[in-house]
Amino acid sequence: MIGRREFLRNSSVLGMGGVLISKYPLAALAANADSRIEILLDEPLGVISPNIYGHFSENLGGVIYDGIWVGENSKIPNIGGIRKQLVEEMRQIKPPIVRYPGGCFADSYDWRDGIGPTSNRPRRTNFWEGAEVAGSPANHKYDPNQFGTNEFVHFCKLIGSQPYLAANVRSLPAEEFYRWVEYCNSPTGSTTLAETRAAAGYADPFQVRFWGVGNESWGCGGNFTAQEYAVEFRRFATWVPHYGMELSMVASGPNDDNWDWTRSFLEEIARKGAGELRSIYGLALHYYAWNLSRGRTRDWDEGKGDALRFDTVDWYELLRQGEVMQSLIDGHWQVMGEIDRQHHIKLVVDEWGPWYRPGSEATPGDILEQTPTLRDAVFSGMTLDIFNQNPEKIAMANCAQLINCLNSLYLAHEDKFCVTPVGHVFKMYAAHQGGQALRTIFGAPLVHYQRDGSLASLGSLKGSASLHEKQIVLTAVNSHVSEPREAEIVVRGGSVKSVSATVLTDSDIRVHNTFAQPDAIAPKDQPVTPGAFSKFVFPPASVTKLVMTLQ
Ligand code: AHR
Repeated sequence: MIGRREFLRNSSVLGMGGVLISKYPLAALAANADSRIEILLDEPLGVISPNIYGHFSENLGGVIYDGIWVGENSKIPNIGGIRKQLVEEMRQIKPPIVRYPGGCFADSYDWRDGIGPTSNRPRRTNFWEGAEVAGSPANHKYDPNQFGTNEFVHFCKLIGSQPYLAANVRSLPAEEFYRWVEYCNSPTGSTTLAETRAAAGYADPFQVRFWGVGNESWGCGGNFTAQEYAVEFRRFATWVPHYGMELSMVASGPNDDNWDWTRSFLEEIARKGAGELRSIYGLALHYYAWNLSRGRTRDWDEGKGDALRFDTVDWYELLRQGEVMQSLIDGHWQVMGEIDRQHHIKLVVDEWGPWYRPGSEATPGDILEQTPTLRDAVFSGMTLDIFNQNPEKIAMANCAQLINCLNSLYLAHEDKFCVTPVGHVFKMYAAHQGGQALRTIFGAPLVHYQRDGSLASLGSLKGSASLHEKQIVLTAVNSHVSEPREAEIVVRGGSVKSVSATVLTDSDIRVHNTFAQPDAIAPKDQPVTPGAFSKFVFPPASVTKLVMTLQ
């Protein structure tokens, strides 16, 4: 974390203006409506990759041990040691891809420790041991390796996901990366490692396509300069055995607005020939919204806010940081295009979400665990809407992290379990996956608020739309804590036959689910008056999904 902290202390301030940019003049608003949404059927933006709805599970705190893995002999219902309720919940959100084993953990991990008979696997010091607190479980500090590659791939199969594995660049040689690929992908009976895999009950190759070449290589992943990392990337990503399938290498990319990392890394790769750029499938961008100090500090620890105790200014401050995602995508995309002129390389936002200070853990002792509220649901909806609107730039995104961690979809401890408001958003937004993103223009008043004496603003109504044969899925967030937004909705090039609405909201902006009250907040279907559909009222502090069937 020191790397990130140092980086954040030294980085430049991000532009955070409220954005409502449209090249189309918005027509006059219908009577009573204060906002307008225009969906342009004849302006497709590209197919929304399901992988934008990806997840991240690091061997950190309670994510793996207690979150995903409860063990085969546990009283907690499980499938081969994997928490059954998690599997059942995840099947409902169509999870496309899961990233593992880190995060920072990845660059300290030897994949060989996590294969073979579980009774023979070594116990190792977890990368995060130093951050663990008194009273946290021993298996969080000292990794028992009961959950390794086999168990992770089994988990992915159970939930219908693809695995995305992050290789250790900092502390293992490239050869070990090739061997891991060999273990996962070499054909049945072909290599000694294929036989080792078969002996564990997995004769068929895992066919892992996505591989991260290190993680945060500017910090915990090796503390490299961009140029040094480019050399490592080439060493790792060159001549990896393919076994007849496509491999997609994800390079460790920038933190936040570190344009220099993006430029220097790609320039160094291209120095050996522009063709070298084709070895990179995606450039990983990490962005956490963490600074709720209202401009008082940029210190990584001091700047953080509280997950549960916050006022309306904190609400707006966090969401304003959410808006920044669009400028990060645009900024890095521009830099990438200066070097990779055909835009062969896409962005992979493989860590995103809010990050608060400790104190809201559902399970005391779980490091980095926080309890998501409605604020995080609105943040997550806003972020997913941004990804939906950039299908040509974003190939994958992974919310950090799946369970018992930062912006988690689920909280679990022993036999207790709940879906967080973020989990509900993923369930609502799953309907976008694979659809054709449509250019959609939101016209709405900005939210203005006092930020300790100075005026600040952000967009109030924002969202995205996608087309699925005869259906349009429209999702939108209303960031305003007290004002509804009544929007006229116009579908250019089509007419709407019927509409269904699902809304996630509450009068308490701090509402959250707990083990004792797992349904304190859940999405509700809202009746839509049949007949001519032209307006919808988006409640304050809400995430909404409208499914519109066209004539
Ligand atoms: O998600 C927690 C940590 O944040 C990850 O391990 C690391 O990549 C990032 O700094």
